[in-house]
Amino acid sequence: MSGVYPSNLHGYDVKTNKSRYHNARLRVQDAQKSKSDDVGTAKIESSPPTNKKLISILVVMTVVTWGLATTAYFGVVDYKAILSRGTRLTRTDIAEFAASLYPLQYDSVRHPLRSFGNLLSAMDDFISDFFVAERARFHIIDKRRTSLMSASNRLKRIIDLGSRDTEPVVESKAETDQVVEADKPKVEAPKTSTKSDSGEKAAKDPGEVTKKKKPKTLSDEDKRILSEIKIGEKLLQQKKGEKAWKFFKDLTKTNPDCPKAKYLEGKAAEMTASQQRSNPMIGLAIEAFSTAVQMKNCPKELKKLSLTAKSENEGFLGRMKPALETQRTLARLYPKDVSILNKLGVRFLMLGKNSAAKKVYQEVLRLAPNDGFALVHMGFIVKQEGSWEEAIPLLKKGTDSNEPGTQEGKFYFHLGDALHRTNRTAEAKAVYEQGAERGLFRSKYQRSLYNVERLTGKPFWTPEEAGVKEYVRRLESNWKSIRDEALSVMDMEKGLFLLEEESLKDTGEWRQFTLFARGHRDENNCRRVPKTCSIIERMPNARGCRRGQVKFSVMMPGTHVWPHTGPTNCRLRMHLGLVIPRTGSGARLACAGEMRTWTEGKVLIFDDSFEHEVWQEAESFRLILIVDIWHPELTEQEKKTLTSI
Ligand code: LMR
Ligand code: MN
Repeated sequence: MSGVYPSNLHGYDVKTNKSRYHNARLRVQDAQKSKSDDVGTAKIESSPPTNKKLISILVVMTVVTWGLATTAYFGVVDYKAILSRGTRLTRTDIAEFAASLYPLQYDSVRHPLRSFGNLLSAMDDFISDFFVAERARFHIIDKRRTSLMSASNRLKRIIDLGSRDTEPVVESKAETDQVVEADKPKVEAPKTSTKSDSGEKAAKDPGEVTKKKKPKTLSDEDKRILSEIKIGEKLLQQKKGEKAWKFFKDLTKTNPDCPKAKYLEGKAAEMTASQQRSNPMIGLAIEAFSTAVQMKNCPKELKKLSLTAKSENEGFLGRMKPALETQRTLARLYPKDVSILNKLGVRFLMLGKNSAAKKVYQEVLRLAPNDGFALVHMGFIVKQEGSWEEAIPLLKKGTDSNEPGTQEGKFYFHLGDALHRTNRTAEAKAVYEQGAERGLFRSKYQRSLYNVERLTGKPFWTPEEAGVKEYVRRLESNWKSIRDEALSVMDMEKGLFLLEEESLKDTGEWRQFTLFARGHRDENNCRRVPKTCSIIERMPNARGCRRGQVKFSVMMPGTHVWPHTGPTNCRLRMHLGLVIPRTGSGARLACAGEMRTWTEGKVLIFDDSFEHEVWQEAESFRLILIVDIWHPELTEQEKKTLTSI
């Protein structure tokens, strides 16, 4: 048997050693022969040739008609656009008026081409209605199947539609490690969903799709220009952003009282913005959405779509306050819409208004107690307040729900942290492992959330590996003057060293004096330690490290820093030992489980995107200079363009 498989694999018949294709060809030839024999017999009994001709004509006609219909339906050829462009040239106001009164009759006489277009469009509608009906049927089955699901689970599907592009919660502090999203191109405009235009996104419950009527998004005025609107929608479906935008801009100029057309102008601008990476275009989209909402004849459902799009685009442009206000307006219109409320909560969080966000999520959890999105966000807020015990079940239930918006590194990050801080270390470890398995962390130890994926990650680095031999030499040869400058600031004006404020500390006292942050020099502080700053000035990879800081760090005896990770893998951290006490149990640092200590006048380099923990158990203070540098594998272009942290 063993010989059979290889020969079979190569397409040879084992017995005859001839190609299978050869055999197959013979079989085909045989078949053709017998077929032609059959035809020969059939010929004798066939009906008169005229019938055959008729049948062929019918077949050809059917093929052509269906060919036209399917190419039109799937947008292979946009007949309607072609026809409309052709006919538009001849249109006058009177003609339009007449067409609006008697569209079909008028068109067929005045514009035979257009009426042919209308015919195609009618076929198009028929086919899509057919599919909609099919989909509705599917939803009935689906509804039955899911009738046992909890109310919130069903609501989550809406959130899936609504909150996928929800903006992240942004933390202002650099080292809080609570940053929220992995690095991704920031210039991409919010996602455009032309599907939502048909009102699908607006469905409150998937089950509602079974009700035949789509939510009303067309005003009476829009209905009058429905065929034009459909042409534009097709352009959107075909992702022809700019074309669609120009089309709707023209359309709304001549039909300024049509909110749906205005909304679609906004959607087209939004698509163009994302295709051309143009922020001004997003501004135009926002204006269009705003105009649509303000129209007196704007249907409520269209208001919802427009306000949603407006808020998302405002948020994308960093206009956080208007984005919040828009979302608030939306929530006033739909006070029980969980998806809208969830997004409102995020808007509050992005502005640091945690208590307002908390109230929103309380309301969501009252309406839908198992809502995963609200649970993780509530957990996040409660954790920030320092209530670790209370945060755990919220974050756990939320992440366990697997619902959209819950599978984010930050929630696993905080769940693990809360577990660790309440002595549930084994569970914390499991959460970190799970986060790593799910691809939310680079590893169970490297849990930074703003990453460049290709960069080598390891806890400790030598100066050679980090490409900073010269920097290290300069720091180490000047360490005494650096130390003296630090001590002079500490001695004379102790108040200048600020308390660590990122809740990383468990016990004790930890203060810092910052010289550079996010690539910016602190002029006031540098004036007090000029030598140190001038040394750093000559280290472009430290001076220009917009994802790091340069600071003196002093730790008093009895200080313990919780295990934590920095926000990004784009930097490495140098520690220059300045005052290192050796009394008691001394001071030490563990990174990814590996213990190290400092030496006066020596530089230690580690990657703080790996979990690290510090103990200061000496009898006097410990003082170091922290100098962050760009990761050696980043390109010059990346160093210029990566966002600051
Ligand atoms: C850290 O970078 O988190 C700490 O190691 C800083 C310090 O002062 O030890
Ligand atoms: Mn740290």
